[in-house]
Amino acid sequence: MNIIDILANKRDKKKHSKEELEYLVKATLSGEIKDYQISAWLMAAYINGLDLEETTELTKLVAYSGDVLDLSSIKGTKVDKHSSGGVGDKVTLVLAPLLASAGLIVAKISGRGLGHTGGTVDKLEAIPGMRTSLSIDEFKNQLNEIGVSVIGQTQNLTPVDKIFYALRDVTATVDNIPLIVVSILSKKIAAGADIILLDIKFGSGAFMKTLENARNLAKMIVEVAKKLNKSVIVALSDMDQPLGYMIGHSLEVEEAIKTLKGKGPPDLTKICLKYGAILLYQAKKARSLEDAENILKRNINSGKALEKFKEMIIAQDGNPEVINNFDLMPKAEHKIEINSPKAGFITNLDAYKVAQSAKLLGAGRDKKEDEIDLSVGVELKVKKGAKVDKGQVLAILHANNLKYIEKAISEIEDAFSFDTKPPEQLPLVREVIY
Ligand code: URA
Repeated sequence: MNIIDILANKRDKKKHSKEELEYLVKATLSGEIKDYQISAWLMAAYINGLDLEETTELTKLVAYSGDVLDLSSIKGTKVDKHSSGGVGDKVTLVLAPLLASAGLIVAKISGRGLGHTGGTVDKLEAIPGMRTSLSIDEFKNQLNEIGVSVIGQTQNLTPVDKIFYALRDVTATVDNIPLIVVSILSKKIAAGADIILLDIKFGSGAFMKTLENARNLAKMIVEVAKKLNKSVIVALSDMDQPLGYMIGHSLEVEEAIKTLKGKGPPDLTKICLKYGAILLYQAKKARSLEDAENILKRNINSGKALEKFKEMIIAQDGNPEVINNFDLMPKAEHKIEINSPKAGFITNLDAYKVAQSAKLLGAGRDKKEDEIDLSVGVELKVKKGAKVDKGQVLAILHANNLKYIEKAISEIEDAFSFDTKPPEQLPLVREVIY
């Protein structure tokens, strides 16, 4: 077998055999095939496609290209939740302790932010002392003791996905459904949970811009997962506007804690309860989705969910006092108000532009190595559908370095659209695919 034949086959729209895919993954990992050959294959696969069988086989091979976590020694149902990346998406910070408070084991390996989307690991690091890089033994011990751990990826999970992804990023081959299925699902399989909920975002702030594309991706994920005997549920949610009101690291932790106290924004609270109920029901810890949602609401109202978050912070060496004192997290020096240029209804609040504004303030990175400022970000005062007066505060920019402030202000001003009539409001979670 050699790579030239494999490349020629995909160039000529032929279906890969199992052996060809095996060779492709092994030789990618060993370095036997070069970046330019892998890139050529990625482009051929992007243009000519991979069918269900090829995608399933490749997902399995990539999942097992490195370590695969074995969580079988931990008692209970292990669940995982993954978002395809959004703006102001702090769902994991709320959902992980909330589900653990209801008896599930939440084993979550999260990523850092890149481009316009934020990452859970960076957000957690706004909590003073919080360690996100745990060994696998520490991770498992923590899961056994308190039922929840959220960490960054330090182990050698899916190394071939890392190689593929880095090359896709620079060869315009990211937005391809089979390649995305392989990438997302292989990582989730390697992370070892029994039940996985994938939150696929669509809209201006997501990498899937339309509901239709997101639905096609979801259907293929569910089909491939079934073939691999994995329980995966995919929810499709709207990312046209940011989730909640806070965008930025300290700001998002603050909003997540408020949500665990029952005082969070309605959209964030709703999505956490909905996803939580799906996982709880799927894990057979509730008689119905309604019953599951009631259990979760009770755990928020009684303080049990917040207590679980506190336990997680303590277990990962963070300062649990943040729960009552948000000033313990990094704070920005300047607060700049953005006022409404006119009266009317907010008909659109472009998530991508809000994220760009936060990034210009220092909350985001272009390259993995870039430093970020955990204290800065955007605090929205109104969202889509709100009726505002001229001059009313629409948002507050939390800033330190004012180098790009004019651009950040202009992005946030551009993010708002106005009309005299209220916009149509559609549900946040549009579909759930099992
Ligand atoms: N997220 C991933 O992990 N992989 C992709 O290919 C796209 C989004």
